[in-house]
Amino acid sequence: MDRRPPISYRIAAGLLKGAQSRRLRPSDYDELADLIEHWKPEKARRFRMGRPYANRYLSSLVAANDVGIVGWLEGAHRSPYAWQRFHDLPEDGGGTSCSFVDFLFVEAGNRRANIGSKLLTAFETEAVDFGNDFMGLSLDSADHLQAQAFYRAHGYTRSKSILYGHLMGKTL
Ligand SMILES: CC(C)(COP(=O)(O)OP(=O)(O)OC[C@H]1O[C@@H](n2cnc3c(N)ncnc32)[C@H](O)[C@@H]1OP(=O)(O)O)[C@@H](O)C(=O)NCCC(=O)NCCS
Repeated sequence: MDRRPPISYRIAAGLLKGAQSRRLRPSDYDELADLIEHWKPEKARRFRMGRPYANRYLSSLVAANDVGIVGWLEGAHRSPYAWQRFHDLPEDGGGTSCSFVDFLFVEAGNRRANIGSKLLTAFETEAVDFGNDFMGLSLDSADHLQAQAFYRAHGYTRSKSILYGHLMGKTL
């Protein structure tokens, strides 16, 4: 049994550093698969097989603290897929300078500790470095409530409901 004080206490007491975001490494695959097993089982399966989707636009970031991986963000920069989804939003103008968050997940016991924010900020910084000026995302209905509040807190205001989810975005 783990007799240590809760993680939030240990961070506050300076015993643990808060989670830091970094690029996903192959050595993270199994631990990441454990994290997202119940949320995105198909993605977890591919990580476990050591065969995640990869292309030159895809970026996968994890947030890790002293205990392990507690958050994950995957998205694409200059994604044609993103352009297709956003080009009909009147105010953003579409174009090819769009990045897109595909997945963002923070372990339930570590939420409201700024971990999602760190991952999103790191990904937004990457997008700007790529020369992109718009970030988009699509929420499943299951993700709506907490995720919408999270993205709104980050300035994602444009949104519309579509057949397969809910689009949000912001100019970077
Ligand atoms: C959405 C999610 C990634 C947020 O991660 P997080 O690390 O808890 O978020 P943060 O701590 O960085 O929150 C930043 C701000 O967003 C807002 N926010 C985050 N979660 C919220 C919630 N459940 N209700 C209301 N506001 C919320 C708050 O303003 C918060 O600031 P505060 O805690 O100082 O009030 C996390 O809840 C999650 O993994 N949810 C399940 C998966 C999901 O919905 N993913 C998004 C689909 S892509």
